[in-house]
Amino acid sequence: MGEGTKEDYDLITIHDSKNERSVFKRVIQWLQTMDGESPYQISRLEHCLQTATRAEKDGADTETIVCALLHDIGDAISPSNHSQASAAVLRPYIGEKNYWIILNHGLFQGYYWMHHYEKDRNLREKYIDHPYYQDCIDFCSKWDQESFDPNYETQSLDYFLPMIEEILSREPKSFV
Ligand SMILES: [Fe+2]
Repeated sequence: MGEGTKEDYDLITIHDSKNERSVFKRVIQWLQTMDGESPYQISRLEHCLQTATRAEKDGADTETIVCALLHDIGDAISPSNHSQASAAVLRPYIGEKNYWIILNHGLFQGYYWMHHYEKDRNLREKYIDHPYYQDCIDFCSKWDQESFDPNYETQSLDYFLPMIEEILSREPKSFV
């Protein structure tokens, strides 16, 4: 790589930008792998769709609805740090606040289960002075932890496709 010319790097750039455009396709494939068996009464895909449906019903903007839909996609590639994986995939296309919420939602969701395993359910309080602390609590309490209801009327993946495409077609920010 040390001897690469500008022309060589131009070839890499062209390839990378084609690869970038296929993020939409890959994200949909990951979502589809989340359909089927789960420990809940609904599949993990249905959980994602339900979270996004609730966000839309509450009047959230398109970026926030898409983040609600994709907040768990990290589960498809890296379950033990799914929040970080989801946040990393979406980061180039979304604002700082939604990024922070996705990045930390796993820890904040711990409030609902950690005490059953002798862990501190209030671990999230270490972020109590963070400007997005309450937003992350609201994301979890109103949308994420509510969205395991087999009887909730939930929009389909097809319904959300144009929204996902809109957000993932944004010019990506680079975090090299
Ligand atoms: Fe979730």
